Amino acid sequence: LGNGASSEERTLAMIKPDGVSGNYTDEIKRIVVEASFNIVKEMLTQLDKDTASAFYDEHSSRSFFPDLVTYMTSGPVFVMVLEKQNAVSDWRGLIGPTDAQRAKISHPHSIRALCGKNSQKNCVHGSDSTSSAEREIKFFFKDVVSGDIASQHHDEL
Ligand code: PPS
Repeated sequence: LGNGASSEERTLAMIKPDGVSGNYTDEIKRIVVEASFNIVKEMLTQLDKDTASAFYDEHSSRSFFPDLVTYMTSGPVFVMVLEKQNAVSDWRGLIGPTDAQRAKISHPHSIRALCGKNSQKNCVHGSDSTSSAEREIKFFFKDVVSGDIASQHHDEL
């Protein structure tokens, strides 16, 4: 089966500012590869207020939204398109629950247990559905088309 086989699925994964500044990028990428994900695209980028607000638009009415935007613009993030069968739910499983404090107790081997602190500084993001994944992948990688070959680029900060 070639790249883009119909059984494959893609999801958007992001290492948040606390994960990047805490130097967890390499370790998280090792976990990703170990879990049989193919890293289709990757990019280190700095979100500005408008971009972070647009990405989290579905949460714009939540009380934590201003804090979330401030946090997500506080430093660079590392964005990846991950591919494997059941990529969306498998990545969500691997990262653990939103609240990293809880993750340390209920999912001690999860990525959020490894490098998260709380519900805000939870180290990583994962698309919550295949439709979210499609939207979020397009949001960051407008040039990703199905069947694209694995490639990587690093935007300058
Ligand atoms: S929901 O809708 O209640 O299930 O929301 P949830 O998935 O838990 O969280 C959505 C994203 O909002 C972030 N979040 C917060 N940010 C700042 N402060 C607080 N208190 C807070 N609570 C949740 C959370 O990290 C989620 O980000 P993503 O990137 O989607 O994981």
